[in-house]
Amino acid sequence: PVEDYDDCWLRYEPVEDEELSNAYRRHCTHAYVSEGAPELGAVREELRRGLGGLLGREPHLWQHPPRSVDGFLAIGLPDEMRPISESVDPDEVRGLHDEGYLIRSVEWEGSDCTVLTAPRDRGLVYGTFHLLRLMATGEPIIDLDVVEEPANETRMINHWDDPFRGSVERGYAGRTLFDWERLPDLKERYYDYARLLASVGINGVSVNNVNTKIPGREGANEVVSGQAGWQLLESENLEKVAALASVFRQYGIKTYLSVNYASPMLIGGLETADPLDPAVEEWWAGKAEEVYDRIPDFGGFVVKADSEGQTGPYDYDRDHAEGANVIARALAPHGGRVWWRAFVYSEHEDRAVQAYETFEPLDGEFHENVTVQIKNGPIDFQPREPVSTLFGAMPETAMGCELQITGEYTGQGVHACYLVPQWKEVLEFDTDGNGSPVKDVLGGTEGQGIAGVGVVGDDPNWFGHHLAGANLYGYGRLCWDPDLDSETVTDEWIRQSFGDDPTTVETVSEILLDSWEASIDYHTGGIGLMHMMYNGEAALENHYDPSPGEWPEYHVADGEGIGIDRTSEGSGYVEQYREPVAERYASPEDCPEELLLFFHRLPWEHELADGTTVIQRLYDNCFAGVEEVRRLHDRWSSLEGDIDDRRHRHVAERFDEHVLQAERWRDTLVTFFHEHSGVADERGRVPLD
Ligand code: GCU
Repeated sequence: PVEDYDDCWLRYEPVEDEELSNAYRRHCTHAYVSEGAPELGAVREELRRGLGGLLGREPHLWQHPPRSVDGFLAIGLPDEMRPISESVDPDEVRGLHDEGYLIRSVEWEGSDCTVLTAPRDRGLVYGTFHLLRLMATGEPIIDLDVVEEPANETRMINHWDDPFRGSVERGYAGRTLFDWERLPDLKERYYDYARLLASVGINGVSVNNVNTKIPGREGANEVVSGQAGWQLLESENLEKVAALASVFRQYGIKTYLSVNYASPMLIGGLETADPLDPAVEEWWAGKAEEVYDRIPDFGGFVVKADSEGQTGPYDYDRDHAEGANVIARALAPHGGRVWWRAFVYSEHEDRAVQAYETFEPLDGEFHENVTVQIKNGPIDFQPREPVSTLFGAMPETAMGCELQITGEYTGQGVHACYLVPQWKEVLEFDTDGNGSPVKDVLGGTEGQGIAGVGVVGDDPNWFGHHLAGANLYGYGRLCWDPDLDSETVTDEWIRQSFGDDPTTVETVSEILLDSWEASIDYHTGGIGLMHMMYNGEAALENHYDPSPGEWPEYHVADGEGIGIDRTSEGSGYVEQYREPVAERYASPEDCPEELLLFFHRLPWEHELADGTTVIQRLYDNCFAGVEEVRRLHDRWSSLEGDIDDRRHRHVAERFDEHVLQAERWRDTLVTFFHEHSGVADERGRVPLD
């Protein structure tokens, strides 16, 4: 590529083990890829790159099944690669999910043949990446019998990129990847981005910020001059969006747009955006038609309405269902969908209660092509939150879970914080104590899925921190298969990124898997507090530095104690959970310690199960968090020489800074706790000298 940027986990380094490499060669040197859809171009290209890198030579690509070879790879839809596909039961293939695939070792005319087939081309793309992943991670590819289907229908990235201005809200990896001034001119890098996404099963990308930044509104919607996100829906800009869609399409990825609720006024020149006004209905219908004319496989619209200054149906005294449905009706004839965000707060003293109170009563009222997109927790991507009460509470409504891949509250591309364990905790959370984890509430149902706030920018390493690449990788893998465990996903990423030296694999794995708990400890004290960061002036807000005093209502620290009473005696949030969860959280004895102060206000000297007091635990955790970061720092240092200098140095430098920042967080937090409690640390560390 002309631009110099990292290959991430698609490095395809030569396989060093000779036996493995010979076996791979025998099966993959010859590859027959049937003719067909544009995705097959992507398949061929990936085979060239992947096998070329892994095996040191590009495969011989056949247009018909090769004869007189030892072994070969056959890729295609069943109908397009007869008679080979007859070695696989056609009903089995037809019965697979649209995006599923099957890889099976068979014998064909005396040769060993690895058949990769799927009901649709997209499955062939995923299957190709799967096969290459097996080789890149040193797995055998004989006797394969892989049958894969995605657990979640939609597996989306939400870019919070601000078109034209080029910045990325909460992005820590440079500027936006998408050059809106130059589009519809395409860059090679867009294809490589699509490859990275497709390799982990992502099938949707919304390309612009949910804050669409209209002129004249304050808040997250700050006043801007020049073009902004809401304008992507204008006719002259749609060709730019269509150009990006033409790249994503080749990798089975649908394109989405974030739109402003007031678009009928901003773009259509109407006097209202009232969802019940016929002119508004007509405008959305016409706009949807125009979009689909240009982008026939367009995914739909993501909408942030009545939230942090964004326009919305409340401007017209309409509710969120009325608000979403007018747009949904416009998209329905084209197969599009509205992803309507449930991130609303402000009226309530306890913001945790609001999303549920707003949305749960509307269950059943949303059009079937509306997905209500719910952040994993009730506050806002804090290092650890309890899981949102909305999951499982709206059985008649399609739901999406919104996760944050970028590290807004977890160190912003400077600290190492691997979020796969956090997401596993969310996805495994049993919403009713009866075997209904979030992953099942979302999975397998039409229109549902997961959306993740994007993490990439134009930084040469894409993420601002090499280790943050593991978050995007793991995000995709979990969206595809939430049953995967953290260790497996982590191991895959490391082997593909850094090779299979056992010490490297073990060390990087330990660093990644232990980083999140450390982050929770020094960012929060580890027992359910959160939101202790610096905000400052809106224009300068960074959410990076510690500043617990800025948010008294989020932890209510005073001479008596700390924490928020969210039981029925307090804000009542806990009652939104279903039993037995509600009962467990409502009791300070049964509530898991890591969430204790989220649900309970307790005296500083309240004793925890092991006899330690609340204040002492806060101190201990803050100090332990920093010790842990130091340990992880040293573990990384020990890899010097085992990992190429460039990447080693990059991460090592960030780790040096990470330690300093973790110390700063610790010192600020323990001082804050001390000032309010007046209780000294039993181990003499606080007050600080
Ligand atoms: C957070 C974040 C904002 C973002 C908002 C959202 O508040 O700090 O940048 O716009 O979430 O999810 O809409």
